[in-house]
Amino acid sequence: MAGLALATGCSYTNGYTEPVTCTTVPATVSYKLDVLPIFKAECFRCHDAAHYQLPAPQGSSGAMNMESFSSISTWTSPKTGINGVSYMVGCIRHDAGFIAMPYDGGKLDACEIATIKAWVDAGAQNN
Ligand code: HEC
Repeated sequence: MAGLALATGCSYTNGYTEPVTCTTVPATVSYKLDVLPIFKAECFRCHDAAHYQLPAPQGSSGAMNMESFSSISTWTSPKTGINGVSYMVGCIRHDAGFIAMPYDGGKLDACEIATIKAWVDAGAQNN
């Protein structure tokens, strides 16, 4: 499998610095194979249909029911984000001005973040 090599310390315009090297992001990121398993493991406990409308921290997760692809699409669009960064990417990178996700603490590892970002950058397809 071809991979994108992301250099250690690769920096973004908003000041976020990738904490570790990640070399395992597929050249073409699949929503179903690469992204959905991360969402299921790290996000569904609050953002699934059963929880997203419950009080925080178990829910009140805005309008995002991650079992609905169209609901996710709203939040992967840079148009609904801040300065061209989507909420999906800003929240998981813990960028300033975004609510850090997962909401109950911790952070996705660098490869999970890079995988989701690559998928968003490619248009967040349902592929
Ligand atoms: C412990 C519960 C919890 C977990 C786990 C969690 N979230 Fe959230 N999420 C929330 C809550 C609560 C909000 C609304 C926060 C607010 O508006 O103050 C939210 C809001 C968001 C938003 C902003 C859009 C919205 O619906 O308001 C995004 C994007 C988001 N979460 C992404 C994620 C992603 C991606 C994951 C998995 C990596 C994740 N969240 C995991 C509870 C959670």
